Amino acid sequence: MAMNWRDYWNSDTPIYVSERHKLLHYRGIASDLAALVAELGPGEPPIVLDHGCGEALAAERVAARCEKLYLCDAAPNVRARIEARLADNLKVTVLAPEEVEAIPDGSLDIVVANSLLQYLSRPEFDALLALWRGKLKDGGALVLADIIPHGTGAATDAAALLRFAASGGFLVSALGGLARTALSDYRKLRGTLGLARYDEGEMLAILTMAGFEAARRPRNIGHNQARMTFVARKSGEPVKAA
Ligand SMILES: C[S@@+](CC[C@H](N)C(=O)[O-])C[C@H]1O[C@@H](n2cnc3c(N)ncnc32)[C@H](O)[C@@H]1O
Repeated sequence: MAMNWRDYWNSDTPIYVSERHKLLHYRGIASDLAALVAELGPGEPPIVLDHGCGEALAAERVAARCEKLYLCDAAPNVRARIEARLADNLKVTVLAPEEVEAIPDGSLDIVVANSLLQYLSRPEFDALLALWRGKLKDGGALVLADIIPHGTGAATDAAALLRFAASGGFLVSALGGLARTALSDYRKLRGTLGLARYDEGEMLAILTMAGFEAARRPRNIGHNQARMTFVARKSGEPVKAA
């Protein structure tokens, strides 16, 4: 059977060019998320869901700012590794996507989805928006990050990776990694399944229709500044289709 994005993320993914790349990536994401959690939270430590969390190698940093941190990922292999690594962290609960339903309605201060939306169809994205809205408190914040605008392709991503690698001291492995990626399942899936893309205005309109008050942040979470981050506060009611 043909591979899909879920299978890809459940495999031993080659997207990180080295262990150093993976570690620096997750450290960077965690420090950006920890700062956002402190900024967007209600004052006291918030209850946070990171949906599509991946390996979450530095999630302890985010958890330290939270009352509770739910880590959700669709890939069973990824969840097994996070569960084993964070078993002693009482603030962290690891969830499969279908278990997010069981989080009490109106109980979350912040939902984060970083580098997730590009792997979802539009109906999957719409269903998640409704789910997240239901789980957020009134005024709670939804952070959608690493959104790829139309017109940015693999060359833009490669240039961003090389800048990140140069500053992180893994340029040689990044060059090798890019050559491997060109021949990899990731490149093939990017060609066949594609990545979902949204322009700024399009994303703001989707979030408004879904019952959020949204704005784009000046900087994206993580190293790739060709991509975008949005913060959307739960407000009003979703607009019903006529
Ligand atoms: C590019 S990684 C991003 C990981 C992490 N958020 C980061 O920024 O490094 C995408 C992750 O989303 C997960 N994923 C894909 N579709 C999902 C879904 N429908 N629900 C939850 N997780 C999903 C994949 O298993 C993968 O670990």
